[in-house]
Amino acid sequence: MPLPKQEYMSDVWKDGIFANKVVFCTGGAGTICSAQVRALVHLGADACIIGRNVEKTEKAATDIATARPAAKVIGIGAVDVRRPDDLATAADRCAKELGGIDFVIAGAAGNFLAPMNQLSPNAFKSVMDIDVLGSYNTVKATLPYLVESAAKHRTSGNAPSPNGTGGRILFVSATLHYAGTPMQTHVMAAKAAVDALSSGVAIEQGPRGVTANVLAPGPIAGTEGMERLARGGEERAATMKMVPLGRWGGVKEIADATVFLFGDAGNFVNGDVLVVDGGAWRTQSTL
Ligand code: HXC
Repeated sequence: MPLPKQEYMSDVWKDGIFANKVVFCTGGAGTICSAQVRALVHLGADACIIGRNVEKTEKAATDIATARPAAKVIGIGAVDVRRPDDLATAADRCAKELGGIDFVIAGAAGNFLAPMNQLSPNAFKSVMDIDVLGSYNTVKATLPYLVESAAKHRTSGNAPSPNGTGGRILFVSATLHYAGTPMQTHVMAAKAAVDALSSGVAIEQGPRGVTANVLAPGPIAGTEGMERLARGGEERAATMKMVPLGRWGGVKEIADATVFLFGDAGNFVNGDVLVVDGGAWRTQSTL
């Protein structure tokens, strides 16, 4: 019997397309990443979400598990993506308890608004370390499992496989560095490096069937970032005017893009950046 349709679900999604797949997601308790994982779980995946805060991460895992009866969702807290050993332990536990790792979302990020001349070197380094080193550590810890998954899900010549998809990495980046954003120099530097990291992984691991892509969300309603950037009604209206589509996006739209990239529809997409921002960055007013 088909599952009831949820508010984060589009008609194009098909029940069970991610059955027997496992997603490993850092920053998984955050608004955007939890919606991405929830969508994959709804469509059949099991999941392991990683976070720094134990209580928040475990609560998010319990909540995501309600997306599908019998879904297995593990929340592993007290993991700092800056520490490779934490991630290696988490990846091994995920594979042991859920049977492998087919998809990775590198979503953990650090951010605050500050002009570059007022940043301490340690403040700059903290964001670089969380975003860049953290993404690298995430790929490094999960790559053996992704290679294994890709081998199961590819035919000769990396052609589409009847077994579905596997061996896919998605980095969550931003558009802040395309045109430049005041008070975000540290994040611009970090996200540019994340984009480059993805390109390197895509060309090196592509021959093994592992793909790497970047998803760059624009202004998304209900996120911590937008709450901080636009608190009042006037600020909200001003930021919406900067978007050619005249509105902020919803987490559902990020979840949909994730389903596209991890599903069969995204089979030949590798080393790419998918911007989901209503065209905002093209107005030079990046959010
Ligand atoms: C200036 C700051 C600061 C601030 C922290 N620091 N907050 N400097 N302005 N608001 C400095 C500290 O003084 C310290 O430097 C250094 O950063 C490290 O701080 P710690 O407290 O030790 O924290 P740490 O555990 O290293 O984590 C750093 C953190 C993190 C980046 C602040 O806690 C964090 O990311 N929090 C927010 C998470 C978040 O917003 N995620 C959503 C991302 S959304 P000194 O020199 O004093 O030692 C996104 C989309 C874009 O990225 C949205 C646009 C806004």
